[in-house]
Amino acid sequence: MPCIQSSGLWIIWLRAIPPVSLKLSRMLELDLITLVVPLVMVMMKLGAVELLTRLLPKFLGLSQLLFVHRNIFIACGIKIACIYPPCTPLGTHAITCALFALLRPGDEEVLGKRDSGGLVSLQDFGVKYREVPLAEDGGLDWNALMSSVKPKTKCALIQRSCGYSWRQSLSVNDIGRAIKIIKKQNPSCSVMVDNCYGEFVESIEPPMVGADLIAGSLIKNPGGTIAPCGGYIAGKQKCVDAAAARLSAPGLGVDCGSTPGDIMRAFFQGLFLSPQMVGEAIKGSFLIAEVLASKGYKVQPLPRVPRSDTVQAVQLGSREHLLAFCEAVQRSSPVGSYTKPVAGATPGYASEVIFADGTFIDGSTSELSCDGPLREPFAVFCQGGTHWTQWGLVLGEVLKSL
Ligand SMILES: Cc1ncc(COP(=O)(O)O)c(C=O)c1O
Repeated sequence: MPCIQSSGLWIIWLRAIPPVSLKLSRMLELDLITLVVPLVMVMMKLGAVELLTRLLPKFLGLSQLLFVHRNIFIACGIKIACIYPPCTPLGTHAITCALFALLRPGDEEVLGKRDSGGLVSLQDFGVKYREVPLAEDGGLDWNALMSSVKPKTKCALIQRSCGYSWRQSLSVNDIGRAIKIIKKQNPSCSVMVDNCYGEFVESIEPPMVGADLIAGSLIKNPGGTIAPCGGYIAGKQKCVDAAAARLSAPGLGVDCGSTPGDIMRAFFQGLFLSPQMVGEAIKGSFLIAEVLASKGYKVQPLPRVPRSDTVQAVQLGSREHLLAFCEAVQRSSPVGSYTKPVAGATPGYASEVIFADGTFIDGSTSELSCDGPLREPFAVFCQGGTHWTQWGLVLGEVLKSL
């Protein structure tokens, strides 16, 4: 495997990383202060004895984790509640829970376009769906948005990250502008943001610009590459309570439930590490953009422009190139490097998809990984990485294969 210095791309890497590194370090410091204060408060309550013994994980329960999370959001200047249920398997589940909590039969919303075959989708419950297509430049269509919300629109779902679309991910300021437009047309329409891949990328989060609810995944940014599963939902108390009731049982919420084994240590440590891991993933994304744009590939976002999430997309133009890219990433991964990823049908995805995820945690996309749908323009979506130089090594292998 070529090392960064020997691959001949050293100069490109030197150009791409130092300018962003300094800015990111400053942001990371601020994020850490926000995180560490509530963490220290929890530790002080527990006392030195537990801290000095290996019993610590035993004392870190769900209520302490909720306490830390609530305080992180309060430190951001917003009075919101937060649930962080370890029993939520993934981000998709958190998003589903939140939507089922907000919507009732006859309401109008946005998700669940595909036929579920009667398997309890929102449509099966009589929730109607409408979508505001993006503008030609891939951004929000501000004009269409001005007249899109009706009196019976109960919920607007905004996806912060690009998903598998060739579009810019939304900045929190753009999300705020959209929320204002939505609420002006119908103040009782709740706005929920799929916050996946966005946490800790900017200095503000969607609830600070008016989102009623956000949901995300712990095998992405806020899990810090350590959390093995889980999703979170945060936002206005009423919405959070409804989602909590939907998750467990009405009247129960998330105040009780089992938290097996050593899992709480992973959630705490992952949360503590997450701004740092996000910083590394962003540096990696700058590197991918710089290197592949210099080789003539279209990249999204462009090199050296500010990021709104940790995803870097590259248009590879053909099925063969997309497969070769993912195979090269898998080959240079720490886990399962001897396996060859193959494209296939995956639950929840419309097209055939290929995933390269040689990661310690199954499906983790805060660890270095990439994936893409097998359809035009054959774009690969790259994310994660515990250190930016990991992408340096992987890109060396990728360039040999393209
Ligand atoms: C924008 C977006 N939201 C939600 C999810 C689902 O997250 P999870 O894999 O934790 O279910 C994904 C998955 O990649 C995603 O890209």
